[in-house]
Formats: sequence, structure tokens, C-alpha cells
Amino acid sequence: MRIACIGAGYVGGPTMAVIADKCPEIEVTVVDSNAERIAAWNNGPLPVYEPGLEAVVARVRGRNLHFSTDVDGAIRDAGMIFISVNTPTKGYGEGAGCAADLRFVEGCARQIAKIATTDKIVVEKSTLPVRTAELILGILTAERRAGVNFQVLSNPEFLAEGTAIANLESPDRVLVGSDKTPEGLAAAEKLIGIYTHWIERDKIFTSNVWSSELAKLTANAFLAQRISSINAISALCESTKANVADVAAAIGADARIGSKFLRASVGFGGSCFRKDILSLAYLCENDGHIEAANYWRSVVEMNEWQKRRFVRRIVRAFSNSMFGKRIALFGFAFKKDTDDTRESAAIAVALQLLEEKAVVAIHDPKVSPEQIRRALREASGAPAEEWESRVICAANPASAVRDAHAIVILTDWGEYSAQVLDYAALLRTMNRPAFLFDGTALLDLAEMRALGFSSFGIGRE
Ligand code: UDX
Ligand code: UDX
Repeated sequence: MRIACIGAGYVGGPTMAVIADKCPEIEVTVVDSNAERIAAWNNGPLPVYEPGLEAVVARVRGRNLHFSTDVDGAIRDAGMIFISVNTPTKGYGEGAGCAADLRFVEGCARQIAKIATTDKIVVEKSTLPVRTAELILGILTAERRAGVNFQVLSNPEFLAEGTAIANLESPDRVLVGSDKTPEGLAAAEKLIGIYTHWIERDKIFTSNVWSSELAKLTANAFLAQRISSINAISALCESTKANVADVAAAIGADARIGSKFLRASVGFGGSCFRKDILSLAYLCENDGHIEAANYWRSVVEMNEWQKRRFVRRIVRAFSNSMFGKRIALFGFAFKKDTDDTRESAAIAVALQLLEEKAVVAIHDPKVSPEQIRRALREASGAPAEEWESRVICAANPASAVRDAHAIVILTDWGEYSAQVLDYAALLRTMNRPAFLFDGTALLDLAEMRALGFSSFGIGRE
């Protein structure tokens, strides 16, 4: 059996590496239009940082896992083709700023239809609006060669960055959506046959395609909604001197609520939550469910507010006078154990501090200075010459902190914990009063105060 995956990103690369590892008899080819990315998958260093990924790739690359830019060849040879290209928020026209931009997915469908000379099972791996399979099948059917048949399955990924390999190797569940026709069910069985190499059958859920597509969007919306809910409570904790971690522990012990995804933070980031909620809200609105759309949109609005609220706290501590003050930012990735900065709260915080005319000295153990500068440039509405000279990318936490007025923790990297970093030594190199703002729950604020910092956290004293 040969399978192909179009899109060698954070999702396609790790997913196919694990399939190849678990199914030695399946030949897996991952293709991407980005030649640089493919070269990196082939020759290293790998284009995505993910704990455990290197070991899996080292076992299977060249054995039954291949990375290539030959999209047509991979389509021609494979019986099953996963679509794992990006689906960003549309930036133009109808649905701008909300709807998912499906042009890459559509491009894949057209290419598959053009090239395929044998029957193919096309698997939606990317997160897509509900009923996208209809669009894909429409293109495949309209443009196919005579006698070639297609089945479209939905098989969304649920992996979280930083834990992708563990999530793929022992998932909570796998979702396979298909048509309920004999051909659709047979295609689903083929895909299920891959996963049962290492996953118990009762963890594989089947449904129609639409439920599967919608389940993925809903899962992300619910996860993000929990974070926005606890972040809303964090604000009230700060004004009432309640402690958000204690509130979270108390409610999380209720089995009906559960303890996960109740960590108050400076705001969720990552490529999925914002984009998928806006896409879900757009779908609701399109179908006339305006209140439902507004409900989901408020999850994103709460997240934006949380980031602004955190920056306001910093600015207030400096009596609104941040001109020329050096602020050390610890962490730029959207969470620990990844080099991904998409939608990272650090971007918004850095840009807002730059608007206040501060100097930001940024350190991240995995994100390169080029990536930091690129992410800021892409997100900033202001001309680069107004702020770029005030961005310093530091090689280590100590050099970020030297002569700084504040440390702001934005990513919960273990490197920034008090067990690893000597905060007393850092403090000695700072301006006084020295401030510390923890946008994660990494540090004990009382301990930091005892060292001499004026310290602030989210939802706690
Ligand atoms: C993407 C989507 O963002 C997410 O919604 C979905 O669930 C899975 O796919 P990710 O893998 O993180 O997530 O995206 P990214 O790292 O950007 O990878 C996509 C890859 O597709 C890129 O390497 C890009 O070069 C490639 N691509 C894109 C193509 O090969 N052809 C295209 O036409 C478009
Ligand atoms: C998410 C989903 O978890 C995953 O199932 C889906 O396939 C893709 O989107 P990811 O974005 O990689 O995965 O990371 P996740 O662990 O969900 O974290 C997202 C953001 O929420 C991060 O910025 C994280 O710091 C933040 N977060 C998470 C909180 O602020 N509080 C929490 O309690 C949990």
C-alpha cells in the first residue's frame, strides 16, 4: 500500500512519520510545494521542533517514509492521499477575517483530479469548515478522468504541538468520517486498517463526514472556551484577592468539569484556536445562527482582552511611562516545547510594549531571532522603522535581563523556572525597582518578592 500526504508542516510531517513507524509495510510519501522545507525534512535540522520527532524520523526516513517535492508523482502512485495543507483565515472578500481560506485545499483537489489515473481515497487531515468534503468531491468529480473514482474521508488531527508524538502514538480517539454508502464504508475501513496497527478499535470513532468535520472545529472551540472562561475568572481573582489556581483546582475536581485546560494565562495562541473559532462563528452566521456566532466570537474577544489587560498591568506599574525602558521578554513561542510562534501571545505583548516606546529584549530557547523579527513584522501595523530598532533578540536570559526594568514571562519553558534560573543573580543586573510579570503560572510570586522583585501574576497575588 502507498499513501501520500500533501503538506509537510507541523501536522503532516509528524503524523506521517508515526504512520510510517507503526506500519512498516506501508510506503509513505510526504510532499510539499516548499522545496526548502522538504530539504530540511530530508537533511535536517527538521523544519519543526517536536520532542521525540527526530528519533521517529531517523528510524523510518529512507525506509518507508519519503519526503519529496514531486507532488504529481506522489499523487499518481498513492491509493490514499491525505490533505494536510494550511487553512488560514481568509484575508479578503466574503468572510474576510473569519472564514477559512480554502484555496490550498481546493488546489490539492484540482491537482489530484488532474493527475489521478486510478481510484483514490482522499483524506481531509487539515481542519476544515463543515461540508468542505462536498467542495472537494465536487472538484474531483468534475475534473476527473473517465473511469477514475474518488472517496473523500474526514480524519481530523487532534495533536497538540509539543506533545504531538505522544498524541499520535496514544490518542484519546481517532475520528473517521465517511459516506454511508458501501464504497464510503469500504474506504473508511481501509483508513481504520492503518490506525489499528497500534490503536485499539474501540478508540476509533466513525460517523458521517459532516459530523467528523464539525467535531474537530467543536473540539478546538471547547478547549479555547475553557481557557477564556478561566481567564475571565482570573480578572475577578485579581480584584478580589481570590487565587485562580485554587478556584481552578476546586472546580476541576468535579468530574463533570474536569481539571484540564483550566490554566489561566496571558491568552491562548497557536495556529488553530483563533482561526477555527472564527471559522465556526462564520459557519453559524452563514446559516442564520447569529447568537451562536456571537457566543463563539466572544471566546476570541476574551482572549484579546486578556492580552491587553496584561499589558495594561505592566504599563500601570510604570505609571504609564515606559519610554526607553528595557523590558526582558522570556519566551516567544506560543507554548513550551515548540518553536511555533503562530498567534503567540508574546507577539501581541511585544508589539503593545513597543507602541509604549519600550525596548524589548526577547529570549526564547527554540525560536530564532530571524523568526522573532519576521513574526513581529508580519503582525505589526506600524512601519518597521518606528519600532524595529527597539527589538533586541538575546542569546540567553541573562543578556536579555541586563539593565532591564522588568522581566515578563510569556512562555512556560522549564528553562525559566526558579529551579533552573538564578533570579537573585538576574536581579542584581537589573534597574531598580525591578518588576516581574508572570503571564504563565511558572513562578512563585511570594518567593520572587522575597528576592526583591515587585511581582505580578495572572489571577493571583
Ligand atoms: C495545517 C492547518 O493549519 C491546520 O488547520 C490543519 O489542521 C493541518 O494543517 P500545519 O501543519 O501546522 O497545520 O500547517 P503548516 O505547518 O503551515 O503546513 C502546511 C504545509 O503545506 C506547508 O509546509 C506548505 O508549504 C504546504 N502547502 C501549502 C503545500 O504543499 N501546498 C499548498 O498548496 C499549500
Ligand atoms: C490545539 C489542540 O489542543 C489540539 O487538539 C488541536 O489539534 C490543535 O490545537 P495546540 O494549539 O498545539 O493544540 O496547543 P494547546 O496545548 O491546545 O495550547 C494552545 C494554547 O492554549 C497555548 O497558547 C497554551 O499555552 C494555551 N493554554 C492551554 C492555556 O492558556 N491554558 C490551558 O489550560 C491550556
